Amino acid sequence: MLKEKQKQISLPDGFLFGAASSAHQVEGENSKNDWWFWEQKGKLPKSGLAVDHYNRFSEDFKLAKQIGLNAMRISIEWSRIEPLPGKYDYTEVKHYKEILLELKRLGITRMVTLHHYTLPVWLAEKDGFANRKNISAFVQFSAFIAKELGQEIDLWVTINEPEIFTSMTSIRGLWPPFSGNILRAFKLFRNLAAAHNRACTTIKKILPNAQIGIAKNNIYYEAFKSHSWLDQSAVKICTWFRNYLFLDKIKSRTDFIGLNYYFYNCLSVGLKGIKQKKLEGPISDMNWRIYPKGIYYLVKGLHERYKKPIYITENGLADSKDKFRGEFIKQHLAWLSKAISQGVNVRGYFYWSLTDTYEWHDGFKPKFGLIKINMKNLTRTARKSATVFKEIQ
Ligand code: BGC
Repeated sequence: MLKEKQKQISLPDGFLFGAASSAHQVEGENSKNDWWFWEQKGKLPKSGLAVDHYNRFSEDFKLAKQIGLNAMRISIEWSRIEPLPGKYDYTEVKHYKEILLELKRLGITRMVTLHHYTLPVWLAEKDGFANRKNISAFVQFSAFIAKELGQEIDLWVTINEPEIFTSMTSIRGLWPPFSGNILRAFKLFRNLAAAHNRACTTIKKILPNAQIGIAKNNIYYEAFKSHSWLDQSAVKICTWFRNYLFLDKIKSRTDFIGLNYYFYNCLSVGLKGIKQKKLEGPISDMNWRIYPKGIYYLVKGLHERYKKPIYITENGLADSKDKFRGEFIKQHLAWLSKAISQGVNVRGYFYWSLTDTYEWHDGFKPKFGLIKINMKNLTRTARKSATVFKEIQ
C-alpha cells in the first residue's frame, strides 16, 4: 500500500497500545449538550443511541482487552456531570467511576479527556469558550472531576484538538454554533489555551502528580518542490501556525504532548498563493491521504521543540472494507519505533477508534472502528485488522 515501508517494530516495555473514543460519539442519548440540541433541529445527523457504549461499556472494554490493548482514551461528557451550572449529577459521577474501575480491573491504563467538542447547552447559550468569562466554568468542572474521579485517572487530556474545534465551529461553520466569524475564532483559540493552562494549574493543586496534556491535531506539511524556497517557506509558516502556535502557549503547563495524526499536506506556492497539491497514493474512505511516515517527522519535530513525552492520542482511518487498517497501524507503529530508536520519547499509541462511532456531521457512515458495530442491533464484532496488536506485541 505504501512506497516507504518500515519493517521493524520494536517498542519499549510499558508502551501503551490503546484505542480512543469520545463520549458523544459512542455513549448515546447525550441529550444535554449543544450537539444534541442541533441534532433535534435537523441541523446535524442524529446521534440517538450512538453505539450505546453508555450501557455496553464493559462489553467494549472486554473486547479491547481481548484484542491486546492495554490502554483506553475516553472522554467524560461535561453535560452529563453538570447539566445545569453548578448542579452536579452524582448518578453520572457514579457511572464514570464504574467505567474507570472496570478499566482498572482489566489492567487498562486510563486516559481521560475533559472536553471533546461538545458543550453543556447552558454554556453554549453563553457562547461557550468564545466568551472569556466562561473559562472559569471549565476550570471548575476540571476541579470537580479531579476531586471526584481523579484517583482513577492515569493520564489527563484537557481539550481535544483546539484548531479543529475552532475551525469547524467558527470558521467553516459546520459545527455548533455554525459561525463563520474570524474574530470569534481568534477569541476561541486564545481562550482554549487559557482554559488548558488554568485547568492544569487547578488540577495539580488537587492532584500534584497528575500527568496532564492536550490532544493536538498536527498536520505533516511537505514542500511540493523540495528545492523551492517558496514551497519550503510555506511549509515553515503553516507548521508554525497550525502545529506549534497553540503548543507554544501551553508548553509550560503541559506534562506531555498528545498528537492526533491524520493529515498530510503537500504545499506548493503559485500566483494564487499557497495550494495543496493532490498526490497519487492510498486514501481512506474519507479521502484522507494515508502517509505513515508523516508521524515520524511530526514526533521528531515535537521532540526537538518541546522535549516532552509524547503520546499518539489518535491515529486512524475510515475503512469500511478493512482493506488498509492492519497495515496502516503497523506502519505507523514502525515509524514510531524508528523515532523512538533515535531518542524520541513516545510512550503510547491510541488508535481511533475502538468501535465505529458517530462521526460528527458525517453521521454513522465513516467506519473507523477496530470493532465493527452492526447498526441494526448494535452487536459488536472485532474486524480482522484488530489482530495486529497481538501480532506485534
Ligand atoms: C476527532 C474525533 C474524530 C476523528 C476522525 C479527530 O479529529 O478527535 O472526534 O472522530 O478525528 O475524524
